[in-house]
Amino acid sequence: MRAGRDPETNACRLIHGKADGWKELYVDRLGDFLLMQSPQPLTDPQIDVAKDWKNRLNLKGVYYKRLSRTVQSSEKTDSSPRLVMGLEAPDIFEVRENGVTYRLSLSEGYSTGLFLDMRENRKRILRNRVEPGLPVFQFAPTNATVLNCFAYTCAFSVCAARAGATTTNLDLSRKYLDWGRDNLSQNGADPGHHDFIYGDALDWMKRLAKRGDTYDLVILDPPTFSRSKKSGVFQAKRDYPALAKAAAPLLRKGAMLLACCNATGYPERKFREDVRIGVRSAGRKIMKLFAAPQPPDFPVTAREPAHLKVSWLRLD
Ligand SMILES: C[S@@+](CC[C@H](N)C(=O)[O-])C[C@H]1O[C@@H](n2cnc3c(N)ncnc32)[C@H](O)[C@@H]1O
Repeated sequence: MRAGRDPETNACRLIHGKADGWKELYVDRLGDFLLMQSPQPLTDPQIDVAKDWKNRLNLKGVYYKRLSRTVQSSEKTDSSPRLVMGLEAPDIFEVRENGVTYRLSLSEGYSTGLFLDMRENRKRILRNRVEPGLPVFQFAPTNATVLNCFAYTCAFSVCAARAGATTTNLDLSRKYLDWGRDNLSQNGADPGHHDFIYGDALDWMKRLAKRGDTYDLVILDPPTFSRSKKSGVFQAKRDYPALAKAAAPLLRKGAMLLACCNATGYPERKFREDVRIGVRSAGRKIMKLFAAPQPPDFPVTAREPAHLKVSWLRLD
C-alpha cells in the first residue's frame, strides 16, 4: 500500500516518526497530495524525501503542517497546512480507502476529515468481520442499526451503510455532520435514511436510553478533551468509565461496542479496565473482547509507542 500499488486505497501513512527513522516527522499520502507534519520547520533531507515520494507516486502537491504539542492533545495543530511543493489541492478532494470514497480538505484546522489510523477498524465494519469467527453484527447487517458517537465526518458510518446498516450519528459540530452526509451520498447511501444528531454525546446517549432505543453496534471514539454546555469538560482518561456506562444500555443483547481512544499517556491496560468498569457498572457482561492493534503503516516500536487503543466488545 505504501508503494501505491493498491488500487482500492490511496490514503495511508508513509512515514511514522522514529519508527520509520525520522524523528518527529509524520508523512501521509492523501490521494494526489502529501501531508507532512512536524513540530519543526522541514529540513533539506525531509524536503528531499517529499520530492522522492511525490515523483514515485506521481502526486500533485505537497503540504506541510506544524504539529504543536499541547497538554491536552499531543497531535492537535493550530493552523491549516500550507503548500510547499507542486499544485494546490482543491478545497475538497477525494481519497479512496478499501474501495470507499471520502471527502477530505486541507483547509480545515483540526484534521483532514479522515483519521488514517482507523482504516482497519473501518474495514472490519465494511466487511462485517472483526477477526475470523467474530462478526461485527450477529445477524444480517442489512437490518442492523449503528450509533456512531463523536461521529466527526461519519467515516465509520459510511462503512456501516455500505454493509447495509442504518446509522445514527452524534456530534457537537454541525459542520462535521454535514460533511458526514456528503460522505454518505458520495458512496451511494441516502443520508435521508440515516440520523444526524447535533449535540453532546453523553447527554444524547442518556436521552436515547431513556427512550429505550437500542443498537447492534455502538461506536465510542471521543476526543482526548472536549467541553460542552451540557456535560461540561470531558477528559477521555478520566471519563471513559462513565462513557462506557452510558453506552451499555444502548446495546442489544449480543451487540458490539467499539471503544476507541487516542489519548497519549493513557495506558492500554487502564483504558481496557475503564471500559470494563463502565460496562459492568451498567449491569452488562463482556462475552468477547478483541483488542485491535495499530495498522502496519503506524508501526509500534519502543521509540514510537502506540497512541491508539481500540477494543471490540461483544456484550451479553
Ligand atoms: C476524534 S474525533 C472522532 C473521529 C471519528 N470517530 C472518526 O472515526 O472519524 C472527535 C469528534 O468528537 C466531536 N465531539 C467533541 N466533543 C463532543 C461531545 N461532547 N459530544 C459529541 N461530539 C463531540 C468533535 O466534534 C469531533 O468530530
